[in-house]
Amino acid sequence: MRAARAAGRIHLKRLSRISITRKSSAVDLVTEADREAEAAVIEVLQRAYPAHAILAEEGGGNAHVSEHRWIVDPLDGTTNFAHGFPQFCVSIAYERRGRILLGVVFDSLKKELFVALHGRGARLNGKPIHVTRTPVLDMALLATGFPYDRRERRRYYLAFWEAFMLRTQGVRRTGSAALDLAWVACGRVDGFWEFGLKPWDVAAGALIVEEAGGHVSNMDGSALDLAGAQIIGSNGRLHQQMIETISSARPEAERRHAAMMREASEPLLAANHG
Ligand code: IPD
Ligand code: CA
Ligand code: CA
Repeated sequence: MRAARAAGRIHLKRLSRISITRKSSAVDLVTEADREAEAAVIEVLQRAYPAHAILAEEGGGNAHVSEHRWIVDPLDGTTNFAHGFPQFCVSIAYERRGRILLGVVFDSLKKELFVALHGRGARLNGKPIHVTRTPVLDMALLATGFPYDRRERRRYYLAFWEAFMLRTQGVRRTGSAALDLAWVACGRVDGFWEFGLKPWDVAAGALIVEEAGGHVSNMDGSALDLAGAQIIGSNGRLHQQMIETISSARPEAERRHAAMMREASEPLLAANHG
């Protein structure tokens, strides 16, 4: 929590003077705040636990061989942050022998601290939180996000959006996966799905959902693999309905993506033959 608050102070300090750089693509951004917040988190963790391994998004961690590992996203929601859209956080998880035991997600602007300890429940600013009891998708509000290859694979991702749009009361794209999961945990949304996520996006939020009485898994329902780049998090009651919606939309998503790739290559083929 001390590490998360240190990152939060940097978010607020940097918010008024942001300098943006592009990372892997035109839509993958990094700011000074990402790097500085990561350094602040790592300093606190390393001072307290010098022998522990740290996996951190911006590469500032260490590769210590240890059964203890911290998984850090110093600023989740960088695109929001860069535009002054108030939805971003720091996410820190502690894992022992491959099992997440602690998750902290801190929304530095709204001053909301979500904390979960394995087997001990989840809290928001010290008060216990619980997932909703919404029983059917027809009554649900869901959240999702789009990964950084969203331009290239837009038709694929949008097919799932469309499937859920038809079955739910609404879908929100908030821009911070860690907060989306924390919001499933405290009942602001009933469920969340996303492709292409990294361990630091979901490690803390997944435990917070489970400790709030919800469920997280891979998209086929198997146990969540942090490196598997896909997640469903829900209030539990909606989980099977979300799995079924995704599996039934997948063939159409693949068909649309393949059609888009064909359309994109047709002018090239025509030019080569002409
Ligand atoms: C991103 C956010 C966003 C999600 C992207 C993530 P970042 O993390 O969580 O909501 O849709 O897939 O990469 O880059 O802001 O730390
Ligand atoms: Ca992230
Ligand atoms: Ca990040």
